[in-house]
Amino acid sequence: MKISIVVGTRPEIIKMSPIIRECKSRNLDYFILHTGQHYSYNMDKVFFKQLELTLPKYNLDVGSGTQAEQTGKILIKIEKPLKKENPDIVLIEGDTNSVLSGALAASKLHIKVGHVEAGLRSYDRNMPEEINRVLTDHISDFLFAPTEKSKNILINEGIEKNKIFVTGNTIVDSVYQNLEIANKNKNIIKKLKLEKDSYFLVTVHRQENVDNKNRFLNILKGLENLNKKFNFPIIYPIHPRSKKMIESFGFKSKNISFIEPIDFLNFLQLENNAKAVLTDSGGVQEETCILKRPCVTLRDNTERPETLEVGSNILSGVNPDKIIDCVNIITKRKKEWDNPFGNGNSGKKIINILEEKL
Ligand code: UD1
Ligand code: UDP
Repeated sequence: MKISIVVGTRPEIIKMSPIIRECKSRNLDYFILHTGQHYSYNMDKVFFKQLELTLPKYNLDVGSGTQAEQTGKILIKIEKPLKKENPDIVLIEGDTNSVLSGALAASKLHIKVGHVEAGLRSYDRNMPEEINRVLTDHISDFLFAPTEKSKNILINEGIEKNKIFVTGNTIVDSVYQNLEIANKNKNIIKKLKLEKDSYFLVTVHRQENVDNKNRFLNILKGLENLNKKFNFPIIYPIHPRSKKMIESFGFKSKNISFIEPIDFLNFLQLENNAKAVLTDSGGVQEETCILKRPCVTLRDNTERPETLEVGSNILSGVNPDKIIDCVNIITKRKKEWDNPFGNGNSGKKIINILEEKL
C-alpha cells in the first residue's frame, strides 16, 4: 500500500501529524505532497520542524491567489506527481482549497481518496470551506468522520454507509501527543509576562470575518471593550490574511497585543492557560474543548456543533456587546464537559482501516 499525504496549510500539517507519525512508525510506503498554499516560515516549516515530521517529497509552491487561481493552480500542478507516484490512496484533511483540488485530481486519476475530518457542515455556502467540504466528501472513497453526528450528515446526503468510518478527530491525538511537552515548556507565558486565567487569547482569520471591514472592525471593537472591562491582556497571534487587512484599514490599538503567529507548542500553552479563547478558527474550537478551556466563536454558525452541545463553546457573532455577554456566560460555566472528538487514537484507527481495506 502506497499512501500520498497531501497538506497545504497550517491546520492540515498539525492534524495530519498523527497520521504521518503512524505511517513512519509502521514503516509504510508513504510520501508527503505539500501544495505550498501556506509558505511563510511561521505558517508552515515551523510545524514540520517542531513536530519532527517527515519533510514533503514534493512542494507545488502554489502560494496565494484568488479562490479560483489557487484551486486551479493546485489542481493542475498536483496531477503530475500523482501520476508519477501512482499511490493507492491520497489522504487529505479538512476543508481548504488544497483539500478540494487534491481530492478532485486524485479521483479523476482513479486514485482512491480518503477524507480525514469528513461530514462537517456549517450550511453556510458563503464560506469557501463549506463548498470544499461538500464537494470533497462526495468524491471521496473513505470518509473518516470525527463523530456519529458527522457520519449521519453524510448518510443523509446519500453517501454509502460502507464508505464512512467514525474515527474521532486527529486533533485529539495531536493535542495529547504534544501537550506534555508544551506544559514543560512555559516559555511563552513567561515571555509575554502572562498569568494563568488572567488573559484572553484571540485568533481571527476567516475570510468572511476579516475581508469584511464592518465585521472585522466590530470584532476589534469587542476585543478593545473586553480589555477595558476585565483589564486582562488580549493576546492575538495574527494570521497574515488578518494582518494585511488591519494594515489596509490603518487600525491601531493599545488594548490588543498583536503578535506574530506562533508555533504549536507555544500556542497550546497559551490556549491551556487563557481565561477564555475568542476565535473563528475550526481547530481552535476543537482544541479548547479538548483542553477544557472556554471558547467564544466569533461567527454566526459553526461546523463543530458538538462543542456547543457539550458547552465548551458559544457563538457570539460579531456584535461587540454580544461578544462581552458571551465571554461572561462561558467563563461562568463549569469546565466539566466531555470531549466528543475521540480519545487520541484517530491516526491509528485510520491507518488500521486502510491496512484492512486497501
Ligand atoms: C486558508 C483556508 C482556511 C483555513 C486557513 C488556515 C481556504 C479557502 N482557506 O485560509 O480554511 O482556515 O487557511 O490558516 O483554503 N499568507 C501569507 N503567508 C502564508 C499564507 C498566506 O502571507 O504562508 C497571506 C497571503 O496574503 C494570502 C492570505 O494570507 O493572500 C490568505 O491565504 P490563503 O491561503 O488564501 O487563505 P487563508 O486565509 O490562509
Ligand atoms: N495555531 C498555531 N499557532 C498560532 C495559531 C494557531 O499553531 O499562532 C494552530 C492551532 O493550535 C490549531 C491550528 O493552528 O491547531 C488552527 O489553524 P487555523 O486557525 O489557521 O485554521 P482552521 O482550523 O480555522 O482551519
